[in-house]
Amino acid sequence: MAFFGRIREDVASVLERDPAARSKLEVLTCYPGLWAVWFHRVSYVLWRAKLRLLARFLSQAGRFVTGVDIHPAAIIGRRLFIDHATGVVIGETAVVGNDVTLYQGVTLGGTGKGHGKRHPTLCDGVFVGNNANILGNITVGANSRVGAGSVVLNDVPPNSTVVGVPAHIVYRNGERVLITDPHDIKDPLSDALIALAARVDGLEQRLGAPEPCAEPFATEEADRTAYREELERQSHFVSMGEGI
Ligand SMILES: CC(C)(COP(=O)(O)OP(=O)(O)OC[C@H]1O[C@@H](n2cnc3c(N)ncnc32)[C@H](O)[C@@H]1OP(=O)(O)O)[C@@H](O)C(=O)NCCC(=O)NCCS
Repeated sequence: MAFFGRIREDVASVLERDPAARSKLEVLTCYPGLWAVWFHRVSYVLWRAKLRLLARFLSQAGRFVTGVDIHPAAIIGRRLFIDHATGVVIGETAVVGNDVTLYQGVTLGGTGKGHGKRHPTLCDGVFVGNNANILGNITVGANSRVGAGSVVLNDVPPNSTVVGVPAHIVYRNGERVLITDPHDIKDPLSDALIALAARVDGLEQRLGAPEPCAEPFATEEADRTAYREELERQSHFVSMGEGI
C-alpha cells in the first residue's frame, strides 16, 4: 500500500481507538505518536538501503520532534498507535505486530545482557499501559494487555493481562488468575514468601488448625466483585479517565 494510503489507515485507526480524537485534521496535527511512526517508516527504508547513519540521524530528528525514540531497524507492523508519545523507546531488535497500542513512557528494551535479538516481540493487538517496561527477547502474545508501570521479564501468553513488578498474569482468556501458591510469585522476595508460607503451614499443623478452605481467597474475591458491582452502579456519576 502506498505511503499515503498507510497514513489514511493510521488516522482512521486512531479515530477508532481514542475517544478523545474528534476529526481527521485533529489526528493529523495533534498526535506526535503518529508522526513518530511516519518518521520511522522513512528511517526504516533508509536503514534497509544500508544508509545507516542517515537512518539514525532521521530517527533522532523524529525523537527530537515527538519524544519517541524508535531505532530504525525495529520492525513495526501496521496501525501502531503511540498515545501521548513522550518517552517511548523501541529498541533495535524489537518487533511490533499490527494494531498495537502503546502509551507514554513505554520501553521495549534490552536487559543489558547479550547481543543479537535482545528486545521484545509484541504480537498483534497488544496494549501496553503507560510507563511499562518490556525487557529482553521475550514475546507478548496476541491481544494481551500490560498494566501501567509493569516490568515484564518473561513471555506473556496470548489473551492475557499482566501487571506488577515483575509482572504476573491477572487475567487469561477472560478468566481471573489468582496467585495462591507462593512458588508462582517470580519476585526477588519469592524465597522469603515461600519460607514464610512453609512456616505458617508448619505452625498450623502443630496447632492442629483446620484444612485451608477449598477455594483460597474466595472471601477477598467476593469483596472485589461486590466493589466492582457498586462502581458499575455508580458509573453514571463518574467517568474514570475516558479519553485522557
Ligand atoms: C492492566 C489494565 C489494562 C487492567 O485493567 P482491567 O482488565 O480492568 O483489570 P482490573 O482493573 O480488573 O485489575 C485486575 C487486578 O490487577 C490490578 N492492577 C490493574 N492494573 C494494575 C497496574 N497497572 N499495576 C498493578 N496492579 C494493577 C488491580 O488492582 C486488580 O487487582 P485486585 O483485583 O487484586 O484489586 C489496566 O489496569 C491498566 O493498567 N491500564 C493502562 C491504562 C493507561 O496506561 N492509561 C494511560 C492513560 S494516559
